Amino acid sequence: MQLFLDTTDIDVLKDLASTGLVDGVTTNPTLIARSGRPMLKVIAEICELVEGPVSAEVAAMDLDGMMAEGKKLAAIAPNVVVKLPLTREGLIATSEFAVQGIQTNVTLCFSAAQALLAAKAGATYISPFIGRLDDYGAQGMDLISEIRAIYDNYEFDTNILAASIRHTGHVTDAALAGADCATLPPKIFADLFKHPLTDLGISQFLSDWSKAGQSIL
Ligand code: G3P
Repeated sequence: MQLFLDTTDIDVLKDLASTGLVDGVTTNPTLIARSGRPMLKVIAEICELVEGPVSAEVAAMDLDGMMAEGKKLAAIAPNVVVKLPLTREGLIATSEFAVQGIQTNVTLCFSAAQALLAAKAGATYISPFIGRLDDYGAQGMDLISEIRAIYDNYEFDTNILAASIRHTGHVTDAALAGADCATLPPKIFADLFKHPLTDLGISQFLSDWSKAGQSIL
């Protein structure tokens, strides 16, 4: 399973990328706005830090605007993935980018039917929003399982990118449900390393080691 960071924070990205465990980055208009910096510069900096896919989202809602913005974003670096909304125009743009060999991430997916259309349009990634479905009173993780079954039934090669992740349980549940990747807020990525029993075990081992009076080096 590939793990992406859902962030535009360059310092945080540098820190977590140094673990060698960050496979890519996703961004959205909210995260770009939060950065307070010009989008094209932010995406270019992220692409220099991460070799894997970097999703950059269009803001236009009409087809011509999506195509123009998507081409401009894709020209920033070879690892840019053009992120498009799951609308009729967004899926037409997805098909056109697929023909041009430009990678796409179809976002704001909330149903298996939408995911089926995105795969037929040739999307590289589909982003089901787990947390927002949970917030809405639905079972977000069921959507991952449904999309996995449909994509496997018809051998679609669109990657399932679990998005809107709220906690580490979402990450492991998405992995169990067969998601190809998940995009995580930095705090949740950092939380994946942690377990209280790991901390307790280290504390006990260090205490016992100090009593042993030994040295490895
Ligand atoms: O970037 C897409 C998605 O991960 C956003 O998540 O937390 O705003 O629902 P959230």
